[in-house]
Amino acid sequence: MSERSKNLEFTGKVVLVTGGGSGIGAATCRMLAKAGANVIVADCNMAGAEAVAAELSGALAWAVDVTDARACENMVAAIGERFGRLDGAFNNAGITEVTALKGAQLPETHALPLDVWRKVLSVDLDGVFHCLRAELPLMLQGGGGAIVNTTSLQAHISYPRTAAYTAAKHGVLGLTRTIAKEYGAQGVRCNAVSPGVVDTPLTNGVIHAEEYREMLLAPIPLKRFATPGDIAKAALWLLSDQSAYINGAVIAADGGYLA
Ligand SMILES: NC(=O)c1ccc[n+]([C@@H]2O[C@H](COP(=O)([O-])OP(=O)(O)OC[C@H]3O[C@@H](n4cnc5c(N)ncnc54)[C@H](O)[C@@H]3O)[C@@H](O)[C@H]2O)c1
Repeated sequence: MSERSKNLEFTGKVVLVTGGGSGIGAATCRMLAKAGANVIVADCNMAGAEAVAAELSGALAWAVDVTDARACENMVAAIGERFGRLDGAFNNAGITEVTALKGAQLPETHALPLDVWRKVLSVDLDGVFHCLRAELPLMLQGGGGAIVNTTSLQAHISYPRTAAYTAAKHGVLGLTRTIAKEYGAQGVRCNAVSPGVVDTPLTNGVIHAEEYREMLLAPIPLKRFATPGDIAKAALWLLSDQSAYINGAVIAADGGYLA
């Protein structure tokens, strides 16, 4: 058995990854390309997307802001023109309140600025919806596909002062289940991966800070933060035919946190 066939097989498949220019998305792009996929590395940070795509064979960098529905449609139209199909989509681009507040202290919910609420919801929830509505027609045209949305621990539990992120990620879980029920009969599976605490540029300013590190590690039975690759492996499995009967599910890749 070849090394590739022992693992997950994506030869000839076309897979879109949003937030592909960094962290979990970048790790997933690398694994997908290694498994033979043509990967579209989509990100609003084009420098990040280009750097990841340049490492990989058969990868294409694409600049997209997922808050812009038309930009998502244009991206998928370009994939259709270039490849004629879309077999997989990892809707993964995301931010937190910390990103939107540019590092300022998290306020209590009643004091959360409206623009921060809207920014987080527009990337983390609207962004997934914009991608789904663009992706589904091309997937259906090809007879089906696999979609994975990135949720979070915060699709299941919350922390104080994270109302927008928690609401958005609970919303993504609901969207995932709706798509699974609505499109399963047409060959599209839709699942979610729920990362725990992952060491990426999104979090590394917080999780390595002395005042947070031990507190964040304490509830994780595996006693370490996830690597981006830990989450990418779960996403890859859900995108692959190995998970052919998994639909509407959420995999908690959280080291046992939710247990
Ligand atoms: N890191 C964690 O601990 C953790 C935990 C749970 C869930 N998540 C989720 O995982 C996903 C990936 O996060 P990460 O940790 O790899 O972060 P990251 O910051 O390393 O990567 C996120 C990528 O999304 C891109 N992005 C942000 N806004 C965008 C937009 N409007 N349009 C297109 N691209 C945009 C960024 O440029 C970046 O490249 C996010 O949805 C995040 O909420 C992360």
